[in-house]
Amino acid sequence: MERNSRWPGFYKLSIEERRQVAAEALGISVSDMQQALEGGLQSERADKIIENVVGTFSLPFALALNVTVNGSDYIAPMVVEEPSVVAAASNAARMIRGGGGFEADADDPVMTAQVQLDEVPDPVAACERLRGHSGELCALGDAQVPGLLRRGGGVRGIEVRDLGDGMVVVHFFVDCRDAMGANLVNTVAEGVATRIQELSGGEIGLRILSNLCDRRKVRVRARVPAASLAGNGFDGARVRDGIVKASRFAERDPYRATTHNKGLMNGLDAVVIATGNDWRAVESGVHAYAARDGQYRPLCVWRGEGDDLVGELELPLSLGIVGGPSRVHDGARMGLRIVGVESATELAMVAASVGMASNLAALRALATEGIQRGHMALHARSVAIAAGATGAEVERVASTIHGKGDINLAAAEQALSALRGGREQVVAPPPGE
Ligand code: MEV
Repeated sequence: MERNSRWPGFYKLSIEERRQVAAEALGISVSDMQQALEGGLQSERADKIIENVVGTFSLPFALALNVTVNGSDYIAPMVVEEPSVVAAASNAARMIRGGGGFEADADDPVMTAQVQLDEVPDPVAACERLRGHSGELCALGDAQVPGLLRRGGGVRGIEVRDLGDGMVVVHFFVDCRDAMGANLVNTVAEGVATRIQELSGGEIGLRILSNLCDRRKVRVRARVPAASLAGNGFDGARVRDGIVKASRFAERDPYRATTHNKGLMNGLDAVVIATGNDWRAVESGVHAYAARDGQYRPLCVWRGEGDDLVGELELPLSLGIVGGPSRVHDGARMGLRIVGVESATELAMVAASVGMASNLAALRALATEGIQRGHMALHARSVAIAAGATGAEVERVASTIHGKGDINLAAAEQALSALRGGREQVVAPPPGE
């Protein structure tokens, strides 16, 4: 089914209405959606996943709209606790959609297994010997993962590195197909170790994947016409130039690059979590990659091209659509059904595109009115909920405390008790809201 990710007015609906719209558009039953998205995990099942379980912990599950990647529309599931992230990503994705959408490509899903050798008596000769046996070692690696071979994956090659002082490391490059790959790669590393020891004469050390999966990169490019960046009294060309300057700032300064990348990871991680993927693996990989030449750098950069703003992103991304939590977590399984991808690389392209959208949204806000005004409006809602407001009270209390510019718990409690006692003071929000 050809999907359309443009759902105008979705944000104004109630949760039930949103589920209905999403269910209909995605061909998923409302009851499946409801069952999967009220927590997604029972305590009894959680108890089988990790140790010492005393309960489960929920986060908001939302949908980012307007995501067009390589000409196809996607609804991107996002799990995140920070206000504004989903709205901002959807909004920026809409601007990018106006310029033709995200163009993305990804490497084959190749992960690296590391086998460490210590006390190698003659490292130069050992490296030569290991390289000379690469065919045999690849075949031995393949023999550890027959199921992966049947699915079209397997060992694609090896690399031998002399790290000095008698330490040698052998890398196995393993195409993990639709799996994130940690278990497969670790199985290969452990299965080949004895033969590697025989060939090198050293002592076997660690046998484990590397989360710096720089053979599994994703690239995204987007073009945004300057006119679609205009808003809040700023013309498009000025916003475009502000975003380009913000990008240059991040390219020159690791302090800024860190925050720049944090904004990008707001969107990317949210998709990673909503699809049951290992966000610590993703985080460690992308930040190591960002610092690969010794200076921490932005993962996405922005340039002006004619009237347009052009963004380019590149990062390593190890995501899976089979195995892991997708087997046991109903919410993660629903996340995968919603995004509707057919391969792990397709998921990587969608997640990275949402990351780019989040980065663009943050830079656009920062290059214009700043982020605090939008944030505070949403923050007021959380404070209203913390004060005990429920249902329609939330918006009313939030708008009162936001209007007064007094967003704190005491003010929210006071507004709530005034509302419940019929003494609500209606305060106009600040101009421009
Ligand atoms: C906040 O979660 C993310 C931002 O700080 C990102 C940025 O500064 O680019 C707004």
